[in-house]
Amino acid sequence: MINLCTQSIRVCFTLNPSPACRCKCVRFLPFRSNISMFGTGKRTKDAFLWIINLNQIHLNQILMILKPKHYSFLLLCVGLVPFSAYAKDKTIDQKVDELMAKMTLEEKVGQLNQYSSSWATGPVSPEGNKMQEVQDGKVGSLLNVKGVEKTRAIQEIAMKSRLKIPLIFGLDVIHGYKTTFPIPLAEAASWDLGAMEQSARVAAVEASASGIHWTFAPMVDIARDPRWGRVMEGAGEDTYLGCAIAKARVHGFQGNGLGNTDAIMACAKHFAAYGAAIGGRDYNAVDISPRTLLEVYLPPFKAAVDAGAATFMNSFNSINGVPATGNAYIQRELLKGQWGFKGFVVSDWGSIGEMVAHGYAADAADAAVKAITAGSDMDMESRCYPLNLAQLVRDGKVSENLVNDACRRVLVKKFELGLFDDPYRFCNAKREKQALNDPQHRAIARDVARKSIVLLKNDNNILPLTTDKKIALIGPLGKSKEDMLGFWNVGWEDNSDVVSQFEGLENRVGKGNLLYAKGCGIDDLSKDGFAEAVEVAKQADVVILTVGERRDQSGEAKSRASIEMSGVQEDLIKAVCATGKPVIVMINAGRPLVFNWVADHAPAILYTWWLGSEAGNAIADVVFGDYNPAGKLPMSFPRSEGQIPVNYNYTSTGRPAPANGSIAPYTSGYIDMVNTPKFPFGFGLSYTTFKYDNLKLSANSIHADQTIDVSFTLTNTGKRAGEEVAQMYVRDLVASSVRPVKELKDFQKVLLEPGESKTIHFTINKEKLSFFNNNLEFVAEPGDFSVMVGASSSDIRLKDKFILQ
Ligand code: BGC
Repeated sequence: MINLCTQSIRVCFTLNPSPACRCKCVRFLPFRSNISMFGTGKRTKDAFLWIINLNQIHLNQILMILKPKHYSFLLLCVGLVPFSAYAKDKTIDQKVDELMAKMTLEEKVGQLNQYSSSWATGPVSPEGNKMQEVQDGKVGSLLNVKGVEKTRAIQEIAMKSRLKIPLIFGLDVIHGYKTTFPIPLAEAASWDLGAMEQSARVAAVEASASGIHWTFAPMVDIARDPRWGRVMEGAGEDTYLGCAIAKARVHGFQGNGLGNTDAIMACAKHFAAYGAAIGGRDYNAVDISPRTLLEVYLPPFKAAVDAGAATFMNSFNSINGVPATGNAYIQRELLKGQWGFKGFVVSDWGSIGEMVAHGYAADAADAAVKAITAGSDMDMESRCYPLNLAQLVRDGKVSENLVNDACRRVLVKKFELGLFDDPYRFCNAKREKQALNDPQHRAIARDVARKSIVLLKNDNNILPLTTDKKIALIGPLGKSKEDMLGFWNVGWEDNSDVVSQFEGLENRVGKGNLLYAKGCGIDDLSKDGFAEAVEVAKQADVVILTVGERRDQSGEAKSRASIEMSGVQEDLIKAVCATGKPVIVMINAGRPLVFNWVADHAPAILYTWWLGSEAGNAIADVVFGDYNPAGKLPMSFPRSEGQIPVNYNYTSTGRPAPANGSIAPYTSGYIDMVNTPKFPFGFGLSYTTFKYDNLKLSANSIHADQTIDVSFTLTNTGKRAGEEVAQMYVRDLVASSVRPVKELKDFQKVLLEPGESKTIHFTINKEKLSFFNNNLEFVAEPGDFSVMVGASSSDIRLKDKFILQ
């Protein structure tokens, strides 16, 4: 059977003689590499099903192949799948050429225009008549429209436009769609790449079923400053971990590739160095050395390109004086040049127009010139493009080639998404209902949530609890559902399906066995609830105090100068601790907080971030030991804001502070506080313990084209099964540029039964030893290196050295 559809042709026929003949047929095809065979010898002895890509092969060539006398039987039937106007046998490039030849300049500019519907994260441009503009072919994409019904209705308007170019619907699907997963920083604490890919996959399955084609995620900004509210959206402070997570998330969102109806376009953002905002103030300028830019902030973006990210979003900040949106170096030279990125770049919200406020563009028209020249393809909500670009081309101030290139990039993605074949292919109400109510998704969310929890302290193994204890849950977050969703959840009217901490614990211990008192608000100053909280604590065997941030205390535009616990929460903890009851403090937040008193006095601390729809159940899993926590911090936790930045991979000085973290005069440090963080990068406890020994390097001296296998034995020395994230750090001991004291270069999450040992292998290769030298060349310099293996960046258990010849 030949079934013609727009992208591929299925040829099913029986071949008479031998496999040799089959090969001959295949060889006969001029493009044989484009043929794949399915079911050889399985369905029937001689039946073959070939999928031939119609982009490459003409129908008559196929018919020629099917003629030879070798067939005993041939049933040829042309499928009824209709050809779209652009399908035929053309490549996507040819289809785009054909379409663009018909487009007016205004229609091309229209493809570069993105509007928002009502929900906004920035100033919304005057409404005007957006739907009329959609019908006039003046809009390429909409954001913040969701659901089959709405996206279909608006797509129908786009289908009334002259050339019927479908819209792309984009949305911030940051950590889940209907099923909300832990915030990305929390997920990063799992160090579980498979889990993070799966979380993004579920988000894509749900969003795509709900009419969404495009998520503005993953955010891959490295963030070393917890005052910056957007640390919650990323993977933390480390570049190596950040690259791995960027890749996993892109794969998760894009699944088996664009064109599948459960794949949505990923968008690596915010390009670039947004996380290096001076003072941790959102949108602020970035002043950065070229080396730090290339070495620390850009690699996760490169990893996203390599993983196939369909789109990029640029950022609000300037980089060394040039706004990222108008920055030709990063967008044209690096991204679209050296890195070979073929997708398109969308501006951040209004960031093209904001170049005027930066003092980098005189007015909106000037901003449009600078942005399109620098490589920003699509204008999100600033209207600089729709209002100016066509005229700028007519006036000769912008080359039409720039518009053509940007328009082409957008159209290519629309073709890849299959929207020209069927603009409603993401609009299936039945599928939407099924995907948004899939219980499997909740089970995955619970698993990812418990993997994201970090056990920071557990004196005398107070955790896990047994269910026969009388427990008091005290604190302002105990019954909250909204706060569990975090800042960037997709907004839904009804959040009653979110499992609060109270519900999660109660599910486990049964009704009546869990006491509760709110105690205080998250940031108000009233202590009126303290007395009740203390009373409730006294009635219990053990107290769980749940404190932290409200969901709008971390996120976009949520920078904080003080990152201590707000309001009177710490006083509440002190009052409850004074009862003498054993206390477990659970901190829910979108960023590392400062909580020194708690860290020093509470016997147990769980960092639970914002864990999403299944927060309560996941927390109960950990509290009662149904799951042994294995999370490790993806960011260092400072003792004070004054220490920031406090990242583990700082460079050495000529007067390094003592390695034991003490204060010593005339060394690089403070006279009133040690340099070390309260909790270091990579740190996290388990209900069991692990031993590291038997470190072996396959070689102590290598040439640049060789690798070293670093192996060691990891043993679970406790009484419970548990996972350990073993980490390998490397230091270049002498180099032409001062190198960090250590850099993460490999890690592995390993599950071990009590008493079990495994040999773990890490690899060192040239790339891992390379850095940008003073000429900004990426080189591995010969010399001595130290290799460190351990349970966190400051808990190094094994050490050795090697030489790069
Ligand atoms: C944020 C982006 C987001 C966009 C659309 C902007 O304010 O910086 O991260 O994707 O809004 O909502």
